[in-house]
Amino acid sequence: MLSIIKKRECILLFTAFFLVFSSHAHESCKIAVIGTGYVGLVTGAGLAELGHNVCCVDIDKKKIDQLQQGIIPIYEIGLDELVHKNVNKGTLRFSTDIEKVIREIDIIFIAVGTPSMPDGRADLTAVKAVIEAIKENSHTSKIVCVKSTVPIGTCRQLAQMIDCDNHNIVIISNPEFLREGFAVQDFFNPSRIVVGTEFTEQAEIMRTIYAPFLDKNIPFLCTDLVSAEAIKYASNAFLAVKVTYINEIAQLCSAVGANINAVATGMGLDDRIGNKFLSPGPGFGGYCFPKDATALVRTAEEAGVALRVVTSCIEANKHHKHYIVQKTAELCGDGLCGKTVAVWGLAFKANTDDVRESAAIDIINEFLKMGATVKAYDPMAQENMKQIIPNILYCDTKEQVLDCSDVLVILTEWQEFKEFDYDRLVDYINRVAVIDTRDVVPAVAAKRNVNSIYKLGC
Ligand SMILES: NC(=O)c1ccc[n+]([C@@H]2O[C@H](COP(=O)([O-])OP(=O)(O)OC[C@H]3O[C@@H](n4cnc5c(N)ncnc54)[C@H](O)[C@@H]3O)[C@@H](O)[C@H]2O)c1
Repeated sequence: MLSIIKKRECILLFTAFFLVFSSHAHESCKIAVIGTGYVGLVTGAGLAELGHNVCCVDIDKKKIDQLQQGIIPIYEIGLDELVHKNVNKGTLRFSTDIEKVIREIDIIFIAVGTPSMPDGRADLTAVKAVIEAIKENSHTSKIVCVKSTVPIGTCRQLAQMIDCDNHNIVIISNPEFLREGFAVQDFFNPSRIVVGTEFTEQAEIMRTIYAPFLDKNIPFLCTDLVSAEAIKYASNAFLAVKVTYINEIAQLCSAVGANINAVATGMGLDDRIGNKFLSPGPGFGGYCFPKDATALVRTAEEAGVALRVVTSCIEANKHHKHYIVQKTAELCGDGLCGKTVAVWGLAFKANTDDVRESAAIDIINEFLKMGATVKAYDPMAQENMKQIIPNILYCDTKEQVLDCSDVLVILTEWQEFKEFDYDRLVDYINRVAVIDTRDVVPAVAAKRNVNSIYKLGC
């Protein structure tokens, strides 16, 4: 079923893409994308589809070997087809030889990871390693576009590090806004393209690279370097605040007998608020919001500014995950010690296999601390979660997880969880007890089992 849905989504995606872009003639550029993860691979394949000649580079030999064999190491809707199509056309290739690629190609996108350090600041080791490699291997003029999310002020430091004037290199900030799970769709339909540079000639080259988007009237915002970096952090922190706000309002709705869906609909009709990002969940996670919100607070501290709203949001998000665990224990009546908890959904959201900073990690660890046994199922993210939490029981189907469990906790909004017949739960589970953090259980089924199904915010 999932594969049929995926195929249908891909066909729609490509049909839409073809209609929009097929009529645009534009100049082809030779581009290197360094870092072939969620952002780098999608960007590389997307730029190749736009007509550019792209080489994706990574230090992870296993990843590049897989890509050269036609195996896509991550799950993103439509990515498989996009990569294969462009490899077959000869516009997309993969390499581990960063020095050679830098010597050959003059437009370089950096898309390596910038994880959190223990103090919350962004770890720029990978970005700086790439900058060193560019410095060592550049013998012609280069444009270096930083797509990795880097703290405000980093691109200026990188420009000093690389001694741009003497090396004839221009550093540009070109932050990425794609959403995992919709990364291919977002690449071809970006909300905006932000380019930070003071150099008009290089800004023009960026316009050429993104020409098909400009033809579609997608906003192209050219700013200074620092503002471009700030736009990325300010956007992610704002979204983290919005999610956290609706999660707390959902807690309040549960306490006072209001319905979060009605409340969110009513709020969203006000276009100053907007209806996006008003769905409650188990707490924000993923590779971006947690690390970017924390890094922004650290940057602000260094600049002598206290970002109290963002700081509170990070704290509130931790509390919210704890609230979900407390609700589970409450529904079970006498705590979780000795109970078996079934978890549906490990990815930080649906349509991705990414579990980095997923709310499921903290929530499962707290269940384990309370003495529960945990069984889990996720259609895509199981293998990744095994690397982080090896000591729980992973099952092949959602039904297997339910077997002999005391309570079901739904943490990710996968379509297959929405399609489950909740009236059949009694066939599997010791007693019907469900914590639905994602509005997955249909309202009618929840109503029929009002004492044993807890829907967050209802
Ligand atoms: N994932 C998202 O949704 C998203 C969205 C917008 C922005 N970003 C930002 O984009 C950047 C990349 O994120 P990601 O999710 O793609 O990370 P990722 O971990 O999936 O990919 C990073 C890749 O860089 C490679 N790499 C590390 N050091 C390298 C080096 N020296 N040379 C070549 N390759 C190297 C790694 O092997 C890995 O494959 C981060 O700064 C992130 O904050 C991510």
